[in-house]
Amino acid sequence: MYRTNTCGELRLSDAGKDVTLAGWVQRVRKMGGMTFADIRDRYGITQVVFDNDHNAALTEAANKLGREFVVQVTGKVQERTSKNPKNPTGDIEIIAEELKVLNPSEVPPFTIEDDTDGGDDLRMKYRYLDLRRNPVRRNLELRHRMTMEVRRYLDSKGFLEIETPMLVGSTPEGARDFVVPSRMNPGQFYALPQSPQTLKQLLMVSGIDRYFQIVKCFRDEDLRADRQPEFTQIDCEMSFIEQDDVINLFEGMAKHLFKEIRGIEITEPFIRMPWADAMKYYGSDKPDLRFDMRFVELMDVLKGHGFSVFDNAAYIGGINAKGAAGYTRKQLDALTEYVKRPQIGAKGMVYARVEADGNVKSSVDKFYSQEVLQQLKAAMNAEPGDLILILSGDDVMRTRKQLCELRLEMGRQLGLRDKDKFACLWVVDFPMFEWSDEEQRLMAMHHPFTHPKDEDIPMLDTDPASVRADAYDMVINGVEVGGGSIRIHDAALQAKMFEILGFTPEKAQEQFGFLMNAFKFGAPPHGGLAYGLDRWVSLFAGLDSIRDCIAFPKNNSGRDVMLDAPAHLDPKQLDELCLALVEPQKK
Ligand code: AMO
Repeated sequence: MYRTNTCGELRLSDAGKDVTLAGWVQRVRKMGGMTFADIRDRYGITQVVFDNDHNAALTEAANKLGREFVVQVTGKVQERTSKNPKNPTGDIEIIAEELKVLNPSEVPPFTIEDDTDGGDDLRMKYRYLDLRRNPVRRNLELRHRMTMEVRRYLDSKGFLEIETPMLVGSTPEGARDFVVPSRMNPGQFYALPQSPQTLKQLLMVSGIDRYFQIVKCFRDEDLRADRQPEFTQIDCEMSFIEQDDVINLFEGMAKHLFKEIRGIEITEPFIRMPWADAMKYYGSDKPDLRFDMRFVELMDVLKGHGFSVFDNAAYIGGINAKGAAGYTRKQLDALTEYVKRPQIGAKGMVYARVEADGNVKSSVDKFYSQEVLQQLKAAMNAEPGDLILILSGDDVMRTRKQLCELRLEMGRQLGLRDKDKFACLWVVDFPMFEWSDEEQRLMAMHHPFTHPKDEDIPMLDTDPASVRADAYDMVINGVEVGGGSIRIHDAALQAKMFEILGFTPEKAQEQFGFLMNAFKFGAPPHGGLAYGLDRWVSLFAGLDSIRDCIAFPKNNSGRDVMLDAPAHLDPKQLDELCLALVEPQKK
């Protein structure tokens, strides 16, 4: 037997027991004739004592132990004289009788401590060592517990977990596909699924009624803190339901997770905010509602007073940073620089402080009388001590997005984005389409299988850009944790949708014929949703990036630096696949 107990298990009540532990050497300390070794495994750390007076040879062997050696230690549990209340096993130690080195270790490239000295790249290269560290391992434990709770909840609601293939066909909508060449079908390619969307719809045609899958999805898109090229969805689909049924069931799941994983009981229904309001008041389809600071449109108040920037603007909007009137000139300049960064792209920022006597002092005082500034104060619902920040621009949507960035930054600076506070909502009534400048055509905002709102269907012919969809996203703390829609189950409407998206009937048949044909054989009304598991876990763990809750993530260039992938193929493999490489074009 390698061990009688784990390294996190023994307590004072075990004193006097003979035990054997196995694990990694965290550190070794010599103190006089005694040597102390901390032995670590997934469950914790236990102190082992080697006493020269008791067994000199054994102590000498212990002195040769290095960090991360794998050892087996047998000995007696005894109460410690100097206890360590921070460690659950800190009341006891093991007086060593036997020591066996199961495997030595080279000196690790960084310290395996909660606060490691290893930089990001190094930790990713040696991710298997990084995973020995408590904070990272805890994230994986949390992830495990969450998937267990998801399965428990969905099973209790009658969902069947069904696997769908990883080698599927490439689809033109959405992000770019990762493709896989087929040796047996030279010149042809599979694609890895961006999501099991069409397959889960086919399962509804099959009468599965309630499906779910915790499934890997692959998207070749630019990476951000909340995006990985391969990530995991909790993918769900239901038949004979309406939007409210889906929303209620998955809100139930969210509340179940909050309760079981974070111990937070949410009794109130989540807010449901129309997309148009989210954009108008927060400049984002995923507003962070941990704090208010909603936008106020100021065109009526500030236009027409001779300040040409505002006079020529298509949109002027302000936020009220409550209590921030004490911001220094330096802080305000830094905020202006922040919104002027190319990623945000504002031209400048105007501010107005409400002083203790109620007077308003602004950065554009020479254009505005105190009377107008008082109107501004009233419009912004501002009080003495408040700071009003204003952006304007010639494109309404773009300026709102810039104001959104400013709002988020102010929220951060004012400490309003506490990671232990959660604000959940549904964003509903998304537009069906969005215009793509790159493609010069309408694209499906969610995906081409989304059902338009019944009352908007007549506008598909006359004004498609105004059609709203039966689509919904769940947003927590400014993160889109899930999204879904009611689907089209009618072959003719689906064909029309492809037409609006610019597909010829032939192209639609070639790409999506399998789905439209299936719809001819009795497709039930259906809809569903997919949650992003990685995003849920990182929210619950308070992480800044989803990378930290993925065992072996990719870096920002989409590389796995540990496996050194992607990599070149052997010419023989290329030959077998009938592939020839061309020189990449210089960017
Ligand atoms: P959608 O594309 O909105 O919908 O994806 C659903 C959820 O998956 C998560 N997600 C990601 N997480 C990490 N990295 C990524 N690159 C990434 N992309 C998406 C998000 C998102 O809300 N088939 C539809 C769902 C449906 O209609 O049922 C779909 O894939 O949390």
